[in-house]
Amino acid sequence: MHIQEAAKILHTTPKAIRYYEKQDLISPQKEADNAYRIFTEADLMRLSTILALREIDMSINDIRQLLADETMDMTQYLNIQRSALFERWLALKDMIQTIDQMIDRTEAEDYTVADIHELAVHLKDIKNKRVNWQDRWNFNEQGKDYDNHIKLHGHRFNVHQDYHQALQMVADTVQLEPGQTCLDIGIGTGNLGSLFLEKDIRVIGVDQAENMLEVCKQKHPEIDVRKGHFLALPVLDQQVDAIVSSYALHHLTDSDKLLALAEMDRTLKIDGQICIADLMFANENRRSHVINHFRDTGNHEAIDAIEDEYYANRQDLVQWLIEHGYQVQTYALNDILSIIYAVKRADLSSSLFC
Ligand SMILES: C[S@@+](CC[C@H](N)C(=O)[O-])C[C@H]1O[C@@H](n2cnc3c(N)ncnc32)[C@H](O)[C@@H]1O
Repeated sequence: MHIQEAAKILHTTPKAIRYYEKQDLISPQKEADNAYRIFTEADLMRLSTILALREIDMSINDIRQLLADETMDMTQYLNIQRSALFERWLALKDMIQTIDQMIDRTEAEDYTVADIHELAVHLKDIKNKRVNWQDRWNFNEQGKDYDNHIKLHGHRFNVHQDYHQALQMVADTVQLEPGQTCLDIGIGTGNLGSLFLEKDIRVIGVDQAENMLEVCKQKHPEIDVRKGHFLALPVLDQQVDAIVSSYALHHLTDSDKLLALAEMDRTLKIDGQICIADLMFANENRRSHVINHFRDTGNHEAIDAIEDEYYANRQDLVQWLIEHGYQVQTYALNDILSIIYAVKRADLSSSLFC
């Protein structure tokens, strides 16, 4: 068929089709005598893919790369695009919330320019946090070996001590009905999230490392894996009944952890539950005590491991949760590993101020 008909079928314009041809996204055959473009079924399929990807705002370059890839995995590309869109959406939400607050302040009689400036600075800080998180540990390279790595104990310090007990406790603590949704953040290879599948819970697994997600999907095809990160979860507001996370939150600095809690709060339904098993100290006194003990006994392996990551102060996380309307319980499995269980009792939270 000719370009007019193709455009009509695809609800687009001949001009748009010619543009994609110019961008080397399509190359229809041309009639020998008059050089009119001829569109085959395959051309139409390709064009409709291009149009769909443009509709979700994928760049021309990304589309070209995707279509050129023989082993093209459309789901993977869509996953990346969804994660990028969520980041943009959250940035816009933050801006709109800041504008609302600026308007509130300017309507007050005693408002000062410093008040407005403070809001702008806070907005910038959140924006930077959302885009600047970096995977210093290169988890993307660890996907294939991660499960074996857990089984290897450190020489004098084992971060995975009580690992399986902790995951099972999280699964036993969170109360869900079949058909409800549980979000596992930093899901890795799916060891925690998969425990919920047995109870017919729908599991969404978010991780920033594509290779981890790939291994997770191979092991547990039922899990809905999504690329994303703690500070920009690829989930709409108040969509999930529970959020779990194991051995992941300590890769965020203390202030990023609070923004991560705000992100969890955004996606969690009222009466929803959060259950986190992670490396943390009960409080600052315990931190000093435990670290001093490792120092006194010359356990450099432990000191190096602790200093390489951001073990939380459990009290700070608990305090944030209580201030945002959660009922909280904690349980320490050992000196460096705790479980925090929190139930969202009222919608008192704000995704901007954490
Ligand atoms: C030590 S593994 C734990 C995996 C799994 N939860 C478990 O308990 O076996 C940490 C995981 O958290 C993910 N992760 C670390 N920081 C993250 C972030 N900011 N956002 C999303 N995932 C993150 C890593 O990619 C990795 O898969």
